[in-house]
Amino acid sequence: MYGRFRGRHILSMHDFDREDLEFIIAKAKVAAARLKEHEHSLKELLKWKRMCFVFYAPSTRTALSFKGAADVTGMTFDGIMDPKTSSAAKGEILIDTVRNLSGYFNDVFVIRHDNEGAVRRASEFAVYPANHRLEGQPIPCINCGDGANQHPTQTMTDFTAIDMRFGTIDGLVYLFNNDMKYSRTVHSDAEALLLFNPKKVYFCCPTELAPPESLLEQYARSGIDYKVIGRYEDVLPEVDVFYDTRPQLNLGHISDPTKEKIRAVFNVRAAAIRKHAKEDMVIMHPLPRDFKFMSPELEVDDLPQAYYFPEAHTGLPTRVALLALVQGVRL
Ligand code: NCD
Repeated sequence: MYGRFRGRHILSMHDFDREDLEFIIAKAKVAAARLKEHEHSLKELLKWKRMCFVFYAPSTRTALSFKGAADVTGMTFDGIMDPKTSSAAKGEILIDTVRNLSGYFNDVFVIRHDNEGAVRRASEFAVYPANHRLEGQPIPCINCGDGANQHPTQTMTDFTAIDMRFGTIDGLVYLFNNDMKYSRTVHSDAEALLLFNPKKVYFCCPTELAPPESLLEQYARSGIDYKVIGRYEDVLPEVDVFYDTRPQLNLGHISDPTKEKIRAVFNVRAAAIRKHAKEDMVIMHPLPRDFKFMSPELEVDDLPQAYYFPEAHTGLPTRVALLALVQGVRL
């Protein structure tokens, strides 16, 4: 299995099969266990490797968990965290940036961009240059979110967190809630679920924020039992994984009536969870929680079902595992 990952780009869940994903989850769990034993236990793992950030859109968890992963594995890192302070502000295009930075002895690129497909396009230009021993070989590019398209490392984090709690991804009832149209984490997670055997998948959303047709077509073809619904309370008693999301207001496409509807119907409320949910259901959320909506509401944080902070913390070991795998380093 290790051979499948060395030098591999991580661009979309579409590029992975079930075996790949199970291997990543297994290695993420190994990293988590090693780090729990001792936070310095992996400090030589990626020594002398170098990670380059090209973040052209805001980030907290993704960027800082990658930096944390570098710190605990002995990797160095540098790069662009804000396009305003780089030549992007002068109009430089991403593929030129990547072509240049490929010459600075970088071993992996982590890239976030507002345009769908931008990271895949950039990956075509990420190769070790003539001044490097590995001349001509690909430098792995990790998609840390490209517009409303995909966010594969969040999916790997989410699936590891689900596996850690339930011991499996199969046989569970999933409910994705809120913005199904623009949420890249839903697109990645729902696409990855097609590789498993969920008992049922619900997409709960206002009509204006329905999942993309292409995703629903894949579900229709898969034979998985799925349904698009407009209210979560009724199905809550069956749900194992309740995956809430933020309405992607920053993209500027969501109408005012839909925002009102989200507040009234789709926000995750403690009273509804207490009344309808199983005790061992987990509430997940890629975060951030937007203060304009406050979903889940703060009171949910104290319920036994709240799982979004442990989910976020799983991001560090998952990224440790992924960085090791694309470097061809065993864990
Ligand atoms: C998400 C993202 O940026 O796609 N957050 C994350 O990376 N954990 C979710 C969001 O912005 O809503």
